[in-house]
Amino acid sequence: MRIPRSLVAIVAALVFTAAPFVAQGQAATSHTSTSAATSEQNWWKNAVFYEIYPRSFQDSNGDGIGDLNGITSRLDYLKSLGINAIWLTPIYPSPQVDFGYDISDYEAIDPQYGTMADFDHLIAEANKRHIRVLMDMVMNHTSDQHQWFIQSRSSRNNPYRDWYMWHDGKGETATSKGEPPNNWQSLFGHSAWQWDPKTRQYYYHRFYIQQPDLNWNNPKVRQAFKDILAFWLKRGVGGFRFDAITALFEDPQLRNDDVVKDKNGKPIINAFGDSQLDSKFTDNLPEVHDVMAEMRAFTNTFDSNHFPGSRVLIGETYLPNIAELRKQYGSAANPEFQLPMDTQIGFINKLDVATFRNRIDDAETKLDGQVPLIVFDNHDNPRIDARYGDGVHNTAIERVIATILFASRGASLFYNGDEIGMKTTPPTRKQDVKDPVGITGWPKNKGRDGERTPMQWSDAPNAGFSSPGVKTWLPIPPSYTTVNVAAEEHNKNSMLDWYKTLIHLKQSVPALEIGKETMLATSSNTVLSWQRTAPGEPAVVVAVNFTASPQKVDLSAAGSKAETLLKSPEGVDPASLQHVELKPFGVYIGQVKP
Ligand code: GLC
Repeated sequence: MRIPRSLVAIVAALVFTAAPFVAQGQAATSHTSTSAATSEQNWWKNAVFYEIYPRSFQDSNGDGIGDLNGITSRLDYLKSLGINAIWLTPIYPSPQVDFGYDISDYEAIDPQYGTMADFDHLIAEANKRHIRVLMDMVMNHTSDQHQWFIQSRSSRNNPYRDWYMWHDGKGETATSKGEPPNNWQSLFGHSAWQWDPKTRQYYYHRFYIQQPDLNWNNPKVRQAFKDILAFWLKRGVGGFRFDAITALFEDPQLRNDDVVKDKNGKPIINAFGDSQLDSKFTDNLPEVHDVMAEMRAFTNTFDSNHFPGSRVLIGETYLPNIAELRKQYGSAANPEFQLPMDTQIGFINKLDVATFRNRIDDAETKLDGQVPLIVFDNHDNPRIDARYGDGVHNTAIERVIATILFASRGASLFYNGDEIGMKTTPPTRKQDVKDPVGITGWPKNKGRDGERTPMQWSDAPNAGFSSPGVKTWLPIPPSYTTVNVAAEEHNKNSMLDWYKTLIHLKQSVPALEIGKETMLATSSNTVLSWQRTAPGEPAVVVAVNFTASPQKVDLSAAGSKAETLLKSPEGVDPASLQHVELKPFGVYIGQVKP
């Protein structure tokens, strides 16, 4: 893989270097030009976002758990990757039942991760490096230890009672709790209703029992979250990732979800032993759009006055199709998310050329020009090796995935550790499982520990994540001796180098920055290929082999010859775009010659 020097020089001249942005309260640079200001407003459109799971990123105080100062100490590494923003999964005080997604105070930092001063320091140091920091915003539920819920469950007359979803059971008597109000299920297994003996009603929880759902029909809940957003916006965060956003509302009539059946008409049973439900009355209800339009309008009021750049709202939007994804952007008059995650592409979980082609085409043609946010991985799913790998060519396949991630039009989001090719390492014994979902679902669903193992920084004891001899909260995978940042930083053929090169190309080659995307060789069922074209700029062609055999593809519809920008190790420079040869799971990216 290589980038021609001539190209580096050209693109270096084209790259806009923005002045460091500042948090509210600090002096903004007064001489920012209009085009620089516009560029700052649009920073997210071709941005690269990096998800950090703080618990597993870097331990700075030797307790076996990652922390904020650990993240700050790795900012230069993040800068060297070329990313524009980090999204931190929750760092608020939490009983940690769902490792931070059960929040007991939205305006503080969990002492496990540090202090508010550590947080402010992280933001300031990140800003110096032009890296924005996004917080996770969990609005669907709180912890059962949050003061709102403690109040809510204390009596039926408490002013906070209506902040959560309380309902009577069916057939309740003075001596029996009866049955839950309906058949709704928790995504983490079994009924979503929990009986509360003190006030003799059930509360609804889409996730763990310790995560009661808030009542979004209550205007006080909306106001409370606007106050929380304001709290963090004033501290200078670059935006938020909205957790489980499609779960915000449920059917007010409490109608049962339908059971999903297989092709023989038999109910599908999930890993928890429950009948699979279609979630039609518990997920993606239309009322969520009104809430998000309100949150976006509110966030926008914090933009230009205090912060030279848009605050960006990302959505965790697992949706059934592109039409539903389109709705998450809202309208010009009532915008919602700038970047709802396009899970249509990244979670196909199978290297099927036609499906990838269709889904990428959908993102190009059915989002009315909105920016897709491409994502393949996160802390909730087995890593790329486990979902796309074939066990033999996993490294090559990870290169293919990274190529689609960064060479497609849109913003890109990836998960810490992907850039060094970290592998999924699930627990082998039930007694070692930390994620409660893995205990309920064992052995069919081993939970999410396997993708949350500590970041592998070096081949030192504890992989440089924590001090030697410390028991880390999840074990360090044995692969750390070879799969680690230090080893890969000095290896031109490493996954790390592949990521850095792709990110650099994405942000410096005009056609890859802004160019529209058109599929090439559309009858191939072995090679996915496309071109990126921008007016007045040389086109770029990209081809990825989805098979374990060598393949040839004809990209001549884009031009006759190209200068190679990047290719897999052992790949060949094609003499003509008519015959582009690809090794098994090989990649070719070239800039078309005029
Ligand atoms: C999201 C988070 C996941 C969490 C769930 C409940 O899906 O990514 O980790 O368990 O929401 O908050």
